[in-house]
Order: sequence, then structure tokens, then C-alpha cells
Amino acid sequence: MILDAKPDGASQGKLLQGKLLRVLDGEAVWPPPLWMMRQAGRYLPEYRALRAKAPDFLRFCYTPDMAVEATLQPIRRFGFDAAIIFSDILVVPDALGRTVHFVTGEGPRLEPIESIGAIDNLPLTPDWSCLTPTVEALGQARRMLDAETALLGFCGAPWTVATYMIAGRGTPDQAPARLFAYREPEAFARLIDRIVAVSADYLVAQFQAGADAVQIFDSWAGVLPPVDFERWCLEPIARLIGLVRAKLPDARIIGFPRGARLAGLNAAARRWTPAALSLDTTADLAAVRAALGASPALQGNLDPLALLAGGAAQEEATARLLDAGRTSRFIFNLGHGILPPTPIGHVERLVAQVRSA
Ligand code: CP3
Repeated sequence: MILDAKPDGASQGKLLQGKLLRVLDGEAVWPPPLWMMRQAGRYLPEYRALRAKAPDFLRFCYTPDMAVEATLQPIRRFGFDAAIIFSDILVVPDALGRTVHFVTGEGPRLEPIESIGAIDNLPLTPDWSCLTPTVEALGQARRMLDAETALLGFCGAPWTVATYMIAGRGTPDQAPARLFAYREPEAFARLIDRIVAVSADYLVAQFQAGADAVQIFDSWAGVLPPVDFERWCLEPIARLIGLVRAKLPDARIIGFPRGARLAGLNAAARRWTPAALSLDTTADLAAVRAALGASPALQGNLDPLALLAGGAAQEEATARLLDAGRTSRFIFNLGHGILPPTPIGHVERLVAQVRSA
């Protein structure tokens, strides 16, 4: 829910801690807390109306009042247990001078990195004017949300951000970055190091502004063979988390190594000691829980296509997930972002089913 005004939401005591933070902090809560990846987005008419007022997607992200409004829209409509700040993972490359723009209906475009020189010429300090609007929006949003609604910050994982910086766009398998990493591993490692450093400072700033937890999106972890998964997903995220915890030892971190197999999830749980791991659509929640033991919390993983389909398919998939999550620390979410054509009635049905579990 949303408050009219509140002086200092970030300092609310534990007594008022909402369901999502209780699960992240070690409790099993039933019915489980619920939020949805990409919950602010094009499936909402109020989002489309707001979006039409912005000259382009990045201006939207970089205007705190607009970003806050987009963040709050799904909370007003559905009363989710968490709001996720409205922004994008590609503000980090933008801050590193690899100018980003979004082509409507196609996705992000950056100038591709085709040489080692482009990596070694990255600025030593990021352009914070690309990062502070989101930090400022987090502070505003935290003051407007009630204490029971958690506020999430986020960033892209170093590997996923690097794949967009190398290719200059999304591709079906991020082959350009994989090829670059095979051909120029040392230079690629320097690129990863730069992203780790900027992302750590960015996440610390997000926590200091009022984020209750952050999610690290490694959307492209699943294309990597095991050795490269270790080198480009597990290790850089471990380093990123270490840098954040060096400043904020209790920082709550949700990892989302999308496409990771059971062995990868197991390694992520041990190496990152995250508050939660977010599972993609293909993961078997019960099997992951059995393999990992009681910690971390697990988040996920309804197929966004089941939510788009609605009806019996959605209800049965939701019921199966609720069954599998019932006995342990569980956060209901999708396995990936909600799809733009999803009918709002399907989301309402989902919320009712989870709330009455
Ligand atoms: O509600 C939320 O989840 C918070 C906002 C959020 C956005 N992007 C807004 C957005 C978050 C957490 C992201 C993360 C993100 N961005 C990821 C990781 C998660 C994932 O989906 O795998 C990635 C890979 C990106 C990069 C990105 N941004 C792509 C590939 C695209 C184009 C595809 C698309 O859906 O249009 C975007 C654009 C984008 N980011 C939109 C939104 C709401 C749509 C643009 C618009 O409304 O005009």
C-alpha cells in the first residue's frame, strides 16, 4: 500500500517488517509474499499512459518523479508485497559512456564493443548523472510506501551487462560476448571488473537511499558452459556481493542466475550466501529446495506464458507452485518478466489465489 506522506520510511523498526523481508531474513511465511518481475510495465494501461509522456525510455528512467510513479502503479493496483524501482540494468553501460537508447518494439541499442581499446578507454569513474536519478527515486518511493511493502533495488549482473555492451543489443544467445570472451579473455575480464566496481558502488547507494533488498539479474547466465559459468557468473557476482557487504554487512541480496542448472544454483547458494535465489521457469522448485536445504529463500517461478494463457493452465500451475513452496521460505514470483499482452484479470486472479493459499 501507499502512504500520502511519511517522514522516514527507511528507519521503520522490525515490528512493522512486511512479509517479504521476513522471508528474506529467515522466516517461512504463509501465504507467501508475492511480487512479479517487470510488474511495472506495458501490460498496465496506466503505465502506457505515463510512458507516452516521456520522450524516450531512458528519459523516463532518469526522471525520478516518473520512475516513482511507475514503481507505485502496480502496488496501488495489486497490493504486491514488494515494489521494484523503475529503471533498467543498462543505466550502468550508459554511466560508463557506452551510450544507450531503446528502439520501440525492438529493445536496447548501444555502440558495440569491437576492440580491446574500447574496454581500456572506459572512463575511470562512471557518470553518476546516469545513476543518481534511480537512487533519488528509491528514496522518494521508500517514503511513499508503507512499511509492510518492501522496496527493491537492482542491477544487472556483470556478465549480462557485458553481453549487451559487447553486442550492442540483445541477441538470441549473446554469441558476440561469448566469442569475445574466448578470443580476448584478459580484456573481457577487465570489462567485467569495471562493471563489478561500478555496480557495487551503485548497489551501496541504492541501499543507502532506502532499498530494503536488491536483486542481481543475470538474465544470460544460462548460455554459459560450466567453466565459463564459474568464471563469468559465479565469481564476479561473488566479488560484487563481497564489495557491497564490506560496506553493508547485512545487505539483503536476491540472486537471479537465469538458466542456471541445479549444480549452478547450488554453487550460487554457497558462494553468494544470498538472502534468496530467484528461479527461472524451467527450475523444479521442490527439487531445488531438496538439494539446497533450508537456505536461501527461493523465489519464483510461474511461467509468464501460463499467466498470459490464464484459466485452468494458470490456476493449476499456481497451485502446484504453492504446494511446492508451502513448507519452506518461499516468495511467489514469475520465472521471468510479465509479458506485455497479459490481461490484468489474470494477474488479479493470481493475486487472489496466492493470498488465499
Ligand atoms: O518492473 C520492473 O521489473 C522494474 C523495471 C525493470 C525494467 N528492466 C524496465 C523495462 C527491470 C528490473 C529491468 C531489468 C532488465 N532490463 C533486464 C533483466 C531482467 C530480464 O528481463 O531478463 C534486462 C535484460 C534488461 C534490458 C532491457 N530493457 C531489454 C532487453 C529491454 C527490451 C525488451 C522489452 O521488454 O521491451 C528493456 C526495456 C524495458 N525495461 C522496458 C521496461 C518496462 C520496456 C520498454 C518500454 O516500456 O518502452
